[in-house]
Amino acid sequence: MSAHGTPVPMTSRPCGPLKGRADVPGDKSISHRSLILGALSVGETRVTGLLEGDDVLDTAKAMRAFGAEVTQHGNGEWTINGVGVGGFAEPDQVIDCGNSGTGVRLIMGAMATSPITATFTGDASLNSRPMGRVTDPLALFGCQAVGREGGRLPMTLVGAADPIPVRYVVPVPSAQVKSAVLLAGLNAPGETVVIEKEATRDHTERMLAGFGADISVVETDEGRVITLQGQPELQPQDINVPRDPSSAAFPVCAAILVPGSDVLVPNIGLNPTRAGLFTTLQEMGADLVFENPREIGGEPVADLRARYSPDLKGIAVPPARAASMIDEYPVLSVVAAFADGVTDMQGVKELRVKECDRIDAMAKGLRAAGVIVDEGEDWWKVHGLQGQVAGGATVESRLDHRIAMAFMVMGMATQNPMSVDDGSPITTSFPIFEPLMTELGAQLVRNNA
Ligand code: S3P
Repeated sequence: MSAHGTPVPMTSRPCGPLKGRADVPGDKSISHRSLILGALSVGETRVTGLLEGDDVLDTAKAMRAFGAEVTQHGNGEWTINGVGVGGFAEPDQVIDCGNSGTGVRLIMGAMATSPITATFTGDASLNSRPMGRVTDPLALFGCQAVGREGGRLPMTLVGAADPIPVRYVVPVPSAQVKSAVLLAGLNAPGETVVIEKEATRDHTERMLAGFGADISVVETDEGRVITLQGQPELQPQDINVPRDPSSAAFPVCAAILVPGSDVLVPNIGLNPTRAGLFTTLQEMGADLVFENPREIGGEPVADLRARYSPDLKGIAVPPARAASMIDEYPVLSVVAAFADGVTDMQGVKELRVKECDRIDAMAKGLRAAGVIVDEGEDWWKVHGLQGQVAGGATVESRLDHRIAMAFMVMGMATQNPMSVDDGSPITTSFPIFEPLMTELGAQLVRNNA
């Protein structure tokens, strides 16, 4: 299985110090939301710094299929002429969201309260992921869904003609589910209330407020209570997308692991609901410095400097932090392999339903590279080897960009190279990963080049 037909086997060889500046791409979560909220506004939304990775490009195509005018001007600059809340047209083709769980789940929410029908599909990874977590709450609005067994794509949604607002307690910590319900609530008359027991990334709430929706967030004993007034007229915005902390994680972790490294990653989004990895790395003894803290488009950002950190120690990562670093566990487990002692990661069941089962994929690859890993349904432990990790394995990336990149980072610091059977999924979130890492000093090769 490959992202684009032909697999791209890749190898990362142990390398000398990584040095320089890493301009990582725009934030994936904010990029998806810019396109979708732009499409739900009346008038022209202008976006700079949009991530032009496959996932986001698929969302752009989908917004066109629902009737918005979406134009790429080059260099991350885009404009979206939206159709307004409730203005989605019925697509005349199947909506293919590729590899993107965020894309498909948010778009399902955005169309669920309009009287239109749409069929969604994706790649083999996306078509194996659970959609019931989104279609269950959308059914409360009056939206019907028919899909494959286990609530899998391909799936057809018939939007509610007379939507009713809902009050929904999100049963799993998922910003995608929360966001799908909020986007559906946009076209339901009255108040939609979403309650999350654990805080997850809050870009949808922040951006809805920015687009002029009446939305409030209150912390209560029940959790975060988010209240949205339906049927607003969203106002088009100028959005400057901060750079993605989840992409920054790769050069940052590589710099921490490779002796002599010193890398600056400018303009990184540091929304507290996203920054858990950096706190964890600092607790492990990583040398990270945040320079020039400031705000871009309502999101906190800073320039992050990461240096080689020889005295890493294993820690217990608090389960309460899981949501704020959920996409970063694969690369964290690589750092943990080089630390002194055990890194204990609890409360991470969600990792099993990402682009692949990320605990299984990482545990297999780490073990093949000489690392001891214990695992249970919602936890795993990596036994660190104090910098001396054998490597020398080829790992399946399983259509998962973060698995591929995590093992490429690992191979920069192991005694022997690390390979993945297919690096093509990397383009879903970090299309410039190879040139960027190579420019810093990494030795990445495509085996069939
Ligand atoms: C995302 C939410 C997370 C994350 C994904 C992006 C988002 O998924 O893993 O990469 O943009 O809302 P869940 O909400 O399912 O945890």
